[in-house]
Amino acid sequence: MIEKTFVMVKPDGVQRSLIGEIVGRLERRGLKPVAIKMYRMPRDLAERFYAEHKGKQFYDGLINYITSGPVVCMVWEGEGAVAAVRSLMGKTNPAEAAPGTIRGDTALHPGKNVIHGSDAPASAQREINLLFNDYEVIDYSRIDAEWLKE
Ligand SMILES: Nc1ncnc2c1ncn2[C@@H]1O[C@H](COP(=O)(O)OP(=O)(O)OP(=O)(O)O)[C@@H](O)[C@H]1O
Ligand SMILES: [Mg+2]
Repeated sequence: MIEKTFVMVKPDGVQRSLIGEIVGRLERRGLKPVAIKMYRMPRDLAERFYAEHKGKQFYDGLINYITSGPVVCMVWEGEGAVAAVRSLMGKTNPAEAAPGTIRGDTALHPGKNVIHGSDAPASAQREINLLFNDYEVIDYSRIDAEWLKE
């Protein structure tokens, strides 16, 4: 199934000059970018984005973290894109993330884990709707499409 997934380079990823590294890894996997923008998340949007974590011990820190600086918001498309990005990211706690994954190669602490990726197609749609208007998500085909499938 061709899916869309929402990906965000978090403020630490931007500050640590990891935008290109992350975009490069997603491109190399064969995924197609269909929306990219830099954004400063306002607090009320961050609270809606992370509503499922309200009440958890790390929630306040998480809201402070995600609103602490610019982020890069993206939509990526491809066969099984949601799971593909999750596997590229590695585990939430970078200390447990395998080497070779983005978190396993670039981060040390769960409170500064560099990247967000949707955990299911339904949450991807919810997150895309929170961060993008319809006209910002581009429908186009790329010349490598035939070389990424059987
Ligand atoms: N124990 C923790 N300490 C500090 N921050 C945490 C902790 N657990 C989660 N977080 C933060 O909350 C975010 C959301 O947690 P979640 O369980 O949804 O992880 P995830 O799905 O791997 O990450 P994300 O939703 O950002 O892609 C984590 O990415 C991390 O930034
Ligand atoms: Mg999550």
